[in-house]
Amino acid sequence: MKVVVLAGGYSPERDVSLSSGCMISNALAEKGHAVVLVDAFLGIKEPAAGLVSLFKKNPDYVPCQYPIPTVPPDLEKMWAERKPDTGMFFGENVLEICRMADAVFLGLHGNAGENGQIQAAFDLLNIHYSGSSFPGCVLAMDKNLTKQILYANGLPTSPWVHIQDVHRPNFEKISKIGLPCVIKPVNGGSSIGVSIATTIDELKEGIQKAANCDKEIIIEKYLDGREFCVGILDQKALPVIEIIPKDGWFDYEKKYQPGLTAEICPADISEKLSDAMQQAAIKIHNVLKLGFYSRIDFKTDSSGDFYCLEANTLPGMTPNSLLPKEAAADHILYADLCNHIINHCN
Ligand code: DAL
Ligand code: MG
Repeated sequence: MKVVVLAGGYSPERDVSLSSGCMISNALAEKGHAVVLVDAFLGIKEPAAGLVSLFKKNPDYVPCQYPIPTVPPDLEKMWAERKPDTGMFFGENVLEICRMADAVFLGLHGNAGENGQIQAAFDLLNIHYSGSSFPGCVLAMDKNLTKQILYANGLPTSPWVHIQDVHRPNFEKISKIGLPCVIKPVNGGSSIGVSIATTIDELKEGIQKAANCDKEIIIEKYLDGREFCVGILDQKALPVIEIIPKDGWFDYEKKYQPGLTAEICPADISEKLSDAMQQAAIKIHNVLKLGFYSRIDFKTDSSGDFYCLEANTLPGMTPNSLLPKEAAADHILYADLCNHIINHCN
């Protein structure tokens, strides 16, 4: 197949996405596909031999190596540096290259790559792409919508309040959640803009931090338990993985810097808890209309009950990411996982 791996883009998770995209490209080339890795934001400068020459199959494919993202982006700098002449999201010739491919593997994370916008554009242009389609992405990228849908369907989600305008928080409403609490941008990923507050001052700081990412935020009750994820692949739940940061919580550095977090898969929990979490993950995946794969994140409270934190439509595929580790525990190698996903496109 001729495959475009679309990564990067204009998102706070740009570096994470370049790391995912690079790994995915190498894996698909290994499986014999003619692959081109395209930065959704920068596009590709017109190659001398024309765009067709971009699709490289072994032995011409040169494996790419992006640095592992370790430093959270400086968002103010990033927004200030946006080049208006490059367009908000798509680089020059990105759509043209995607239209030449048999399928596009979405290695994007965050905003327009994950919130349904690119999926809707591809639907209109009849471009085949991996992952969830437009409606699922809309529901799962918006943490408030996700929680409303889970709550309405009797699926476990922690108490929260939604602040529609981050510059006008209603502290009376927030006080119902109590301290400690977690402040999150409504549309975001990789814990960028997320903080945990134990005092009113920290709460105010956290709201300011989240405001750098989004105009809408949620404030959730802090759950004082263990953290788990369940990947869904082809309607089946992968083994549960437990995440144990060496210290503090599972923030951006702990997510991507090797050695800062232990991941135990299959998780050392009772069969009953593991089954219950896997069943809940499948229900959550379906109720949110997700596609061929996703990753559902959970946390327990101090009494051991579990709650869904969020659903990820384009889970990380970096060397340090969780879904590939869960697949490996189920004897699915990284390259086979990518091949499986590209063979089940929208
Ligand atoms: N948003 C990141 C990439 C994840 O969920 O894995
Ligand atoms: Mg996420």
